[in-house]
Amino acid sequence: MGNLCRKSKQTSNLVVKVEKDLRFEILSDISSGYTYTVFKARDLTSNEIVALKIVFFKPESKEQKELSVAWEVAMYSTSINPHCPHITPMLSHGVGTVQNDKILFISLKLGISLQTVLNKLGGMPESLIYFVAKDILLGLVELARQNLIHRDIKLSNCILLNNGASSLIDFNLAWEFDKTKRNDKTYNEDLHAQGSKGWRSKEDMNNDKTEEKKGYDVERADVCSFGKVLVCCLFAKKSERNQLSWGLDEKALTCSDTFRVMAETLIQENPDKRPTFEELLNFDWFQNSPFEVNREKYVTYLKNAYETLS
Ligand SMILES: Nc1ncnc2c1ncn2[C@@H]1O[C@H](COP(=O)(O)OP(=O)(O)O)[C@@H](O)[C@H]1O
Ligand SMILES: [Mg+2]
Repeated sequence: MGNLCRKSKQTSNLVVKVEKDLRFEILSDISSGYTYTVFKARDLTSNEIVALKIVFFKPESKEQKELSVAWEVAMYSTSINPHCPHITPMLSHGVGTVQNDKILFISLKLGISLQTVLNKLGGMPESLIYFVAKDILLGLVELARQNLIHRDIKLSNCILLNNGASSLIDFNLAWEFDKTKRNDKTYNEDLHAQGSKGWRSKEDMNNDKTEEKKGYDVERADVCSFGKVLVCCLFAKKSERNQLSWGLDEKALTCSDTFRVMAETLIQENPDKRPTFEELLNFDWFQNSPFEVNREKYVTYLKNAYETLS
């Protein structure tokens, strides 16, 4: 990582130079990961405040990182329908410099991650989870229609935008899959074991351990991760490293039976019994929801989240 990452508390006033007519002023850190750092930044051309995802690269890791950014950009701009409102819009991307460090960047519409909101505000009532879950699910249905799997579904890859919509980010690990080979014992070998540990399905984790990869239904592994996201929204899982049981029998969890049954269906161990995203969208909890009338409440919650967190 470049100097900027090590000095990440002193990022204000730095300017990312990209092209003649495109500059970003870095305002603050949002998140530092293994390969990327995400900043809140001002696009000095449009004056818009954006999320700027930057990769600093050392010569020895250059190729791999370039490849991974190129992949994510391709996923955002071509593979994923750019008109799908449930995928966070990518605003620009390219190569630039920060204090002589060469960088690759992607700028995205700014939101707040669901992980950040839950950490700060605690678990959400089911009536509010509905608004986040439905939007994220619509994004996942769109991906599935294009034969794409996300492979890293978790709270920190779900973003709440201030217009009331929620959307997916982080297509670093997204992949195209061949539906006709679902359950093919050898096909899925390359598609396994990519996402974050606590969020992955049991069959995905087991696949790591066996010498001979058995393969599994990759879309239904994403369905399991989405189920875990729903459960986590209820009790605001603090850290992705926490060990926890995914059972819904904790006394503190108050939710409807419909929610409970749906969540259990999604996270169950047998992938064949999990619905696809398209089928899930037809579940009663999404289609005949009593929560739709609460939209104003959700907008107030979101406003509060933005005020508390900015
Ligand atoms: N558009 C955005 N708005 C707000 N926060 C964002 C946005 N994009 C990324 N982030 C924050 O940065 C973190 C890392 O970004 P992500 O794209 O998931 O990269 P990584 O591949 O390192 O996980 C996210 O978990 C989120 O907290
Ligand atoms: Mg991420």
